[in-house]
Amino acid sequence: MATARVLLRRIAASSSVNLPEHRAASPALWASRMVPSQAHSSAAEPASAKPKKMKTFSIYRWNPDNPAKPKLQNYEVDLNDCGPMVLDALIKIKNEMDPSLTFRRSCREGICGSCAMNIDGDNGLACLTKIQSDAAASTISPLPHMFVIKDLVVDMTNFYAQYKSVEPWLKRKDPPEEPGKEVLQSKKDRAKLDGMYECILCACCSTSCPSYWWNPETYLGPAALLHANRWIQDSRDQYTKERLDAINDEFKLYRCHTIKNCAHACPKGLNPAKQIEAIKKLQLQQ
Ligand code: SF4
Ligand code: SF4
Ligand code: FES
Repeated sequence: MATARVLLRRIAASSSVNLPEHRAASPALWASRMVPSQAHSSAAEPASAKPKKMKTFSIYRWNPDNPAKPKLQNYEVDLNDCGPMVLDALIKIKNEMDPSLTFRRSCREGICGSCAMNIDGDNGLACLTKIQSDAAASTISPLPHMFVIKDLVVDMTNFYAQYKSVEPWLKRKDPPEEPGKEVLQSKKDRAKLDGMYECILCACCSTSCPSYWWNPETYLGPAALLHANRWIQDSRDQYTKERLDAINDEFKLYRCHTIKNCAHACPKGLNPAKQIEAIKKLQLQQ
């Protein structure tokens, strides 16, 4: 298990640089795999008319079908012919240089949470992270301390199981006052959910948390605990005590040592550490 974990986790940056190996694929095959790219270049001034502004992207590669050691692979991208975000560069590389590069993305606007990765040492969403236009190479790797499935894609099974374990849905003992109608909530009570309901489950926070790195199976991590508090605070929910009891555990909750990496990492500007503190205060009042 430990060996597998070591194998699957990202390794320290290797200096080996390999050129893309899939240039020989047929154009038809390439076209069938292409992700439609966006027209970021100015129509009036085609990219070819601008001087090139090359930037190196050093990207973590690991393929389970060829389980050699992971490596960093360099790609050169002309920033004058590329959108402004890191996800634009990744899509350009996949479309034009190496269709084997694997990463998750969907919404392209910070909503789905699927493009979370580590960019130049910080966890973030590739679609919301601007490409640094300086000359330095940009290093892109999977979310830290996660099992890698392929390249930038990590296994989120444990993360989602922890989210599910806090039962993130409304739980009632009484039926609604009006049968078949919603359970109403005042504006003031609704406002108590601000700072929590916006979470997109990208896992940037949990995978930046040292306590989560050391205890990923037992500590729920900042994302799941933020969602636990989202339902603890919901005025319509009638299982507050049960929810508090379920996480009142040395590992599930109290592995948080208030280091606050989670708040720094959240691309939505949320503060999971604050929500964890709120849960701990409620535990003391029980
Ligand atoms: S505050 Fe808690 S959850 Fe956030 S990074 Fe620190 S230990 Fe992890
Ligand atoms: S709290 Fe922020 S970083 Fe954590 S999962 Fe939610 S959106 Fe992502
Ligand atoms: S692609 Fe959906 S959050 Fe980045």
